[in-house]
Amino acid sequence: MTEPLITHVHAWEALDSRGRPTVACRVATSNGAQGRAVVPSGASRGEHEALERRDGGHRYGGWGVRAAVDAVNAIYGPMITGLPVSDREAIDALVEERDGDPRLGTYGSNAALSVSLAVTIAGAESRNEQLWQTLANGGGPALIPLPMVNIFSGGAHAGRAVDVQDFLAVPHGAESFAQAIEWVDRVRHQCAELLDTAGGWSALVADEGGLSARLASNDAVLTLLAQGIDRAGFAHDEMGIALDIAASQLADGDDIVLDGEGKRLSADEWVDRLIEWTGLYPIVSIEDALGENDWEGWRRAAERMPDIQLLGDDLFATDAVRLDRGIAERSANAILVKVNQAGSVSRAERVLERAKVAGFATIVSARSGDTEDYWLADLAVGWRSGQIKVGSTMRSERTSKWNRLLEIESEGGTEFAGRQALASGISSVRGSNRD
Ligand code: PGA
Ligand code: ZN
Repeated sequence: MTEPLITHVHAWEALDSRGRPTVACRVATSNGAQGRAVVPSGASRGEHEALERRDGGHRYGGWGVRAAVDAVNAIYGPMITGLPVSDREAIDALVEERDGDPRLGTYGSNAALSVSLAVTIAGAESRNEQLWQTLANGGGPALIPLPMVNIFSGGAHAGRAVDVQDFLAVPHGAESFAQAIEWVDRVRHQCAELLDTAGGWSALVADEGGLSARLASNDAVLTLLAQGIDRAGFAHDEMGIALDIAASQLADGDDIVLDGEGKRLSADEWVDRLIEWTGLYPIVSIEDALGENDWEGWRRAAERMPDIQLLGDDLFATDAVRLDRGIAERSANAILVKVNQAGSVSRAERVLERAKVAGFATIVSARSGDTEDYWLADLAVGWRSGQIKVGSTMRSERTSKWNRLLEIESEGGTEFAGRQALASGISSVRGSNRD
């Protein structure tokens, strides 16, 4: 059988879940397969991410992506037409070379990623395989990731209701993914009721589908989340809390500025506060605890919180060089992997594999501006990431990923990652509230 070749590439300007323009791309192959992908985009973007190209001007408030779309249709399309669709790594390398900028800023990382995703998906389709199977390359039963699910949002995703960006539930005691999602739904319902009683408004939904945390302080949100977990009937060795501080948004130099409290804290004082929280609440994971350039602060935080999953998002920006530094300096023990921080599927995959070799936990993540696509779920399963972060249990751009994982699990023959996937494993899952 001859190898399927790329016959057609077509990009267009689409919308993401925040209503902002984004690049969509479709790739067709000589054996009749197609791959289609719509690129996600962040709001609390790190300064070290690959560079999206935006048009500026008056259309869509400057967020238009017509130039990036044109680059796909005029440059990348003709360049990759005729190549074997299964050569996705070679195609990613060609695109990177054609852009010329390591951060893909010439034609835009959004242009590059749209091609990378559509080629990857078309490659799986052309082999008549599920995407996760193609990515797993025969590596054993599907590993369904442990989800961390957004319950309350603050920060840049909720009009800065409170300083901390994400308050998430981690159902690490669940025995299956389906059970994990149902457990989290119970927590969300309890939290919504508690929020209404506390004078918040549970109908107000943030960018990732979470409850908008219009409460007096970060502490008030944490207390409410812990109460919601309790009222839903879960022990702390079943349901934990994860935080995404998104501290790059709060950092001024190495200080952390809490607008909600009118306070400026040194990195050490801030970590004192986090340690206090880990004593009061069943916290298993803290993402971007410190600013993206405060390597020394991260190192000290990791030393002081050895039994917590310390997760680098903006710190690593899915970049191999930054990850290597973090491994060498023991800055963290986990990495968030976002394909559009890297700019291609292959780059993100290499970073994830490197992190695994170093013993880091890996969490594949959506963006706050996401899309109806579900390839992220297949990436998490195929790469055996162990964990996934997608946002809340509502809104279709979030549920499309959960629904895909439910689908894969329902087909049978899978394993659920559970708490073993957390960086600190069982050791971080301290004292039960039912003891
Ligand atoms: P973003 O947020 O997609 O707005 O960057 C997600 C995150 O910080 O994890
Ligand atoms: Zn983050």
